[in-house]
Amino acid sequence: MGYKHLVFPENSLFLVTGGAGFIGSNLCEAVLDMGYRVRCLDDLSTGSQKNVDLFLSNPNYEFIKGDIKDFDTCVSACKGVDFVLNQAAWGSVPRSIEMPLFYCANNITGTLNMLEAARINGVKKFVYASSSSVYGDEPHLPKAEGKEGNLLSPYALTKRCDEEWAKQYTMHYGLDTYGLRYFNVFGRRQSPDGAYAAVIPKFIKMLMNGEQPTINGDGKQSRDFTYIENVIEANLKACHAPHSAAGEAFNIAYGGREYLIDIYYSLTKALGVELEPNFGPDRAGDIKHSNADISKAKAMLGYEPEYNFERGLEEAIEWYKNNL
Ligand SMILES: NC(=O)c1ccc[n+]([C@@H]2O[C@H](COP(=O)([O-])OP(=O)(O)OC[C@H]3O[C@@H](n4cnc5c(N)ncnc54)[C@H](O)[C@@H]3O)[C@@H](O)[C@H]2O)c1
Repeated sequence: MGYKHLVFPENSLFLVTGGAGFIGSNLCEAVLDMGYRVRCLDDLSTGSQKNVDLFLSNPNYEFIKGDIKDFDTCVSACKGVDFVLNQAAWGSVPRSIEMPLFYCANNITGTLNMLEAARINGVKKFVYASSSSVYGDEPHLPKAEGKEGNLLSPYALTKRCDEEWAKQYTMHYGLDTYGLRYFNVFGRRQSPDGAYAAVIPKFIKMLMNGEQPTINGDGKQSRDFTYIENVIEANLKACHAPHSAAGEAFNIAYGGREYLIDIYYSLTKALGVELEPNFGPDRAGDIKHSNADISKAKAMLGYEPEYNFERGLEEAIEWYKNNL
């Protein structure tokens, strides 16, 4: 269970791209806590220097401020690296609809640069962030790998392309790649700020400030909200996965289903706030329901998520109470 018992060769070096962001900084922390070396590569475009400063005093931590759109940067960042955890990308479905060219360069070419740089440097495992958005308009629940629909946004397209490129790198160049289709991750250090902030931290911050959050749509949309600890486990288990599981993409979630409106009232209750939400229009490119079949990751990666939604939310709220 979990990931803390996993053992990697002594002195292993993990390169975390996007390591100054929410998921990446949690990966850096987990790897450092396990006693291994971390190199973080991040251009600080959506990440934060604060998430770098946390680890700078640790001799096992190194930070490179750089852009994965730059191939030479990727090649030098991969020198001596055993495992790549590629998280660098821009999220947000609505923003990707506004900026298709940037998303193509950042999320597709950036990851392709990293795949090539990893191959040249003989990296052992290349684990990368994909997304549940690759299921598009496929209505069937739970979402299962191999049953994808039409893509609904440029963001989803970038993640789908990354998966296809990664598959090519396993097929033709023998690089072991593992795609992790995250489903709405939440937890400590996820940013509550900005127009494209994720819903849980945004609502927590607004409610703590006595502001009234707006729910897009009727609140009856559901998601498989996934606590960050489960995502860390998936990344580290993928670094341990057999070659036979390479070239594949896996759903990474808890396998539950939470309605937005219920989450809203769980938050008001936990924070002791009495505020009704505003309701706004549906967002373009959003899907109504999402819930993951996680049996493939269980079978092929040994993934056994330990944190259900309630346990994760409790920890997340506690963190925001102490850190906002
Ligand atoms: N948070 C979620 O619910 C979720 C769901 C599905 C997939 N993902 C994927 O997981 C990954 C991490 O997401 P997150 O929520 O931690 O987002 P985040 O914005 O907090 O982190 C992304 C990090 O990548 C960095 N970055 C972006 N473009 C870069 C570039 N060209 N070069 C170097 N660094 C760059 C940013 O500065 C940031 O620190 C992303 O690939 C995202 O698409 C996240």
